[in-house]
Amino acid sequence: MTILEVSGLSKDFGGVRAVEDLSFGVEAGSIHSIIGPNGAGKTTLFNLVTGLYTPSAGEIRFDGETVTGLKPHELARRGMSRTFQNLQIFFNMTAIENVMVGHHLHLNRDFFAALLRLPAIARGDAACRDLAVELLQLVGLEDYLAAETDSMPYGALKRLEIARALAARPKMLLLDEPAAGLNAVESREIDAVIKKVAETGVTVVLVEHDMKMVMEVSDHILVLDYGRKLAEGSAEEVRQSPDVIAAYLGSPA
Ligand SMILES: Nc1ncnc2c1ncn2[C@@H]1O[C@H](COP(=O)(O)OP(=O)(O)O)[C@@H](O)[C@H]1O
Ligand SMILES: [Mg+2]
Repeated sequence: MTILEVSGLSKDFGGVRAVEDLSFGVEAGSIHSIIGPNGAGKTTLFNLVTGLYTPSAGEIRFDGETVTGLKPHELARRGMSRTFQNLQIFFNMTAIENVMVGHHLHLNRDFFAALLRLPAIARGDAACRDLAVELLQLVGLEDYLAAETDSMPYGALKRLEIARALAARPKMLLLDEPAAGLNAVESREIDAVIKKVAETGVTVVLVEHDMKMVMEVSDHILVLDYGRKLAEGSAEEVRQSPDVIAAYLGSPA
């Protein structure tokens, strides 16, 4: 089953066509990576899919319905959740509180309503707390439940963000460079988390520069160049793609 279907998607910024006539599908339950050089349109594509940008042309279907033009909170309600390249952690709260807030932030239409209810949320409804514990275990942070976030290592915070995004119980999780700024050991911890998330049935869409991670975890890879699809397929298919090889040979050494 295809959970995400993008058809003829384009996005113009003035004279720049950041995404051009792009079509692809994401299989439910898979790990689907989007790679390409800087400026290829990866972030723009993420922002289109998650409703931060409105497409100039094209259609996006999610979970069997057309969702083109829906707002981020509407997409969140339908089961889309994401992390951002820059950390979005509440540093005045513990790890578990961050995850519990994620449960409410993503589901609530009104960000400020959720924010004002923080003390009540943090005192907590037991079910929400149980879910948060379960998710912190999933990302390997069971030793950090009550930890103050400002005392946690950066690699742990990146995994905490994934747990918080999962607290909305998404069908599809979009990860924007989850390994950015991490060392090799921390990156391999993220590999393991991504695989575990997919094993729970959540579809993962990954934008990442760490090729080791992409090649290791991806079921399917989409290669973008100048906003267009250059190649797609398995890691091996993408490596052997004549278009990818030509683009590589044509690029400055
Ligand atoms: N908000 C924006 N306004 C104008 N141009 C943008 C904007 N966002 C991206 N672009 C341009 O669109 C192209 C694709 O950018 P981006 O999606 O950030 O690529 P990537 O994430 O693959 O590095 C680039 O040429 C970039 O300068
Ligand atoms: Mg980018």
